[in-house]
Amino acid sequence: MSNAPIGVFDSGVGGLTVLEALTARLPHEHFIYLGDTARLPYGTKSPETVARYSLQAAQALARYGVKCLVIACNTASSVGLPVITRYIENVPVIGVIEPGAQAACAASRSGNIAVIATEGTVRGGAYQQAILRIRPDAQVNAEPAPLFVALAEEGLNEGSIADDIANHYLRPMFGATEGAPDTLVLGCTHFPMLARAIRHAVGPKVQIVDSAETTAVSVDARLRKAGLAGTRSTEGVVRLLATDGRERFARVGSRFLKRPISPDEVELVDL
Ligand code: DGL
Repeated sequence: MSNAPIGVFDSGVGGLTVLEALTARLPHEHFIYLGDTARLPYGTKSPETVARYSLQAAQALARYGVKCLVIACNTASSVGLPVITRYIENVPVIGVIEPGAQAACAASRSGNIAVIATEGTVRGGAYQQAILRIRPDAQVNAEPAPLFVALAEEGLNEGSIADDIANHYLRPMFGATEGAPDTLVLGCTHFPMLARAIRHAVGPKVQIVDSAETTAVSVDARLRKAGLAGTRSTEGVVRLLATDGRERFARVGSRFLKRPISPDEVELVDL
């Protein structure tokens, strides 16, 4: 079982930021990534629909015999994790919310923590609850930043448009000289792509928590604890599955994964 692949799923290509962090940390593991591009975005859909889609994606990956399941999508993690853990047995399931919340609580001195995410993630309150569970004295301000998703997919990660939109979302939270948060959680797969514009908007002192990085650390620890860490010394293989649009997945996904993806590498699947 320890040499079985790790399953990773997301609503589309955004979760490739998480896959990138995972392959960097666990280069000898095999991965199967599933992007539900036919039904993207999840961030604007109702919790019931996201939970149903997420369970279907998780069940599809379970059929490949994965040893562990990573929910790379923040929106899917926020509503889908309890449903998935109920239905998928004997496979550890790891979402991105808990690792991100833990990292934010560890990074913040003041306990004043901001979260930016999709509408669905903010509305569901999973980050707010996870942070308050770990640090009951924290003050959490979560706000949606949906245009960041489109910017990242269009490749407008830097420059005046990205800066204007970052200022629009972040200045109201970080503009005050007193009482501003000291930590910002990037609670969406796409937001690490805009790290520079976000940094410009919040200034140099704010701790920025990238949930992709923190999730990779958490998956590594969980695999070791469960005795499921791979034993191979050669480089792992990454399989890419999508529910629609191999060309677009390859073109947009290459930027998120930080390596060229050929459309031929992308296998189309139905859920
Ligand atoms: N992957 C989603 C998330 O992290 C962003 C894109 C979407 O709305 O589907 O919340």
